Amino acid sequence: MKHLFALNKYLSKYKWHILLGIVFVSIYRFCSILIPQTIRDALDFVFAKVEENKTVGNAAGSFTELYGSDILYYSVKMIGFALVMGVFMYLMRQTIIVMSRLIEYDLRKEIYGHYQKLDSAFYKRNKTGDLMSRITEDVSKVRMYLGPALLYGINLIALFVIVIIAMFKVSPTLSFYTLIPLPFLSISIYYVSRIINKKSEAIQIQLAKLTSISQEVYSGIRVVKSYVKTNEFLTFFDNESETFKQKSLDLARVNALFFPLMILLIGLSTLLTIYMGGILVSRGEITNGNIAEFIIYVNYLTWPFTSIGWIASLIQQAEASQKRINEFLETEPAMQNQEQLNIPLKGKIVFENVSFTYKDSGIKALDNISFKVEEGQKLAIVGLTASGKSTIADLLLRTYNIDQGQILVDDIPIEQHALSHLRKSIGYVPQDVFLFSDTIQNNISFGVGEMSSSDIEQIAKHVAVHDDIIGFPEKYQTIVGERGVSLSGGQKQRISIARALIKDPAIVILDDSLSAVDTKTEQKINNYLENELKGRTSIVITHRLSSLHSYDHIIVLDEGKIIEEGSHQQLIALNGQYADMLDKQKYEYTT
Ligand SMILES: Nc1ncnc2c1ncn2[C@@H]1O[C@H](COP(=O)(O)OP(=O)(O)OP(=O)(O)O)[C@@H](O)[C@H]1O
Ligand SMILES: [Mg+2]
Repeated sequence: MKHLFALNKYLSKYKWHILLGIVFVSIYRFCSILIPQTIRDALDFVFAKVEENKTVGNAAGSFTELYGSDILYYSVKMIGFALVMGVFMYLMRQTIIVMSRLIEYDLRKEIYGHYQKLDSAFYKRNKTGDLMSRITEDVSKVRMYLGPALLYGINLIALFVIVIIAMFKVSPTLSFYTLIPLPFLSISIYYVSRIINKKSEAIQIQLAKLTSISQEVYSGIRVVKSYVKTNEFLTFFDNESETFKQKSLDLARVNALFFPLMILLIGLSTLLTIYMGGILVSRGEITNGNIAEFIIYVNYLTWPFTSIGWIASLIQQAEASQKRINEFLETEPAMQNQEQLNIPLKGKIVFENVSFTYKDSGIKALDNISFKVEEGQKLAIVGLTASGKSTIADLLLRTYNIDQGQILVDDIPIEQHALSHLRKSIGYVPQDVFLFSDTIQNNISFGVGEMSSSDIEQIAKHVAVHDDIIGFPEKYQTIVGERGVSLSGGQKQRISIARALIKDPAIVILDDSLSAVDTKTEQKINNYLENELKGRTSIVITHRLSSLHSYDHIIVLDEGKIIEEGSHQQLIALNGQYADMLDKQKYEYTT
């Protein structure tokens, strides 16, 4: 149970719910025991009167006339107890089940808050589906422990204690015989429920497999169709569904055995009660009413005996789920703020002998990189693919911590800037554009919250996407992505540039953000960057060299090292890699 101890802080937060819950459960159970006792009294009364009438004769009137009001009294008493039980059942659910919902909410909030703090290495390591299932299904399983398992657990103990005391008070001998079959009942239920659990788990795993296959196929439906793989996937899906069906039928068979077994053992208990009870009545040790009372007790007791297995399995599942949740909650975010410097950024960037290796792949992406960008300057980074360009952007955003050397922003080590402040000051357009399934307007104003429509239009005009947007039927209110229109690659890129620039950031980083726009549009956006964004530091990663003549500084990367640097003219004069790449591109564009 050690993993579930993590929940103790919540249990103590809601201790009044639990204490009240225990009180309500006890009252509820106490009332439930009064019902069979009333039945016993009623029956004993009736038997006694019948005997009496036999000897005296019923001259005084019919049985109903004579004793109707007494019997009515017993009935009303029982209904009264049942009503009180109802009220307390309501109250115990209101305390304990409500508490489990409150803790579920708290826990989910805690996990979500923690997820937000974790770094991108964590997100690379763990699948989105896994993150989601821990915050949804696992939390629900934990709630089953805090709610139903706890409630029924308390209920069970209360019932057990109260019923056993009541039984032994009447007759220890009869109690003993009545209870004989019950241990067998719980042992067999324990084994059967273990089988059931195993089988349900297998079904869960198969279901998860089916879901993930469907999810993959639907998200990659365009690739699947264009490679004419639909039939293969259909067969695959058929086979997996068949397995799922077999496993479900398997479980149904065990379940079908389970209930008859239970009823058999309960029946056995009842039979023993009547048989032994009869003998004891004939010996005059107990009354007829006691037999009726005991039969109800047996029925009461079978429920806790059958539910022990169920409660145990709920706790086991919650334990496994909480273990998975704890794993994530105990993961420390790699980015820790050392100091919280909240001064506005001006935009000077210095890399001093920076080296960086990706931990998970062991790839040394940057090797002893040094460069300097003065406030308001424009730096271009070029190089072959996988040469480490995007890695430089990631390090500037502090997605990862560097291994060697240091990065200075405004002459202060990057680690000393408050993380949120640093990121807010950088307008970053990542290489793989991501837009939310939301309106174009909300996608553009994502980083700034509320923004007037005219400001949004203005920025869209600057990045040359306004005309595209007003071509859509809903204009700026058009929903993009899964639920709405699909945008072209170039449109997506320009919208994400607008999203970065509307923040009015001190530093702009564009990672290959103009790769899907034509050269004319690129020129337009470049002009904007040059004129309107004057005074802002920009770092532009690109493969297209022809547009770089206006840049203050260009660095050429190869396998994580700077192999050439200088201005466009200087690099051409150098007649090295840069000149070579430029030549090849000129040739491609002219032919
Ligand atoms: N998250 C990551 N985990 C592990 N290795 C990575 C990760 N991101 C990049 N790499 C590796 O680091 C190297 C540099 O990658 P990077 O993305 O910086 O290249 P790039 O210059 O931006 O390439 P491109 O022009 O294709 O975008 C590559 O070899 C890549 O495989
Ligand atoms: Mg890249």
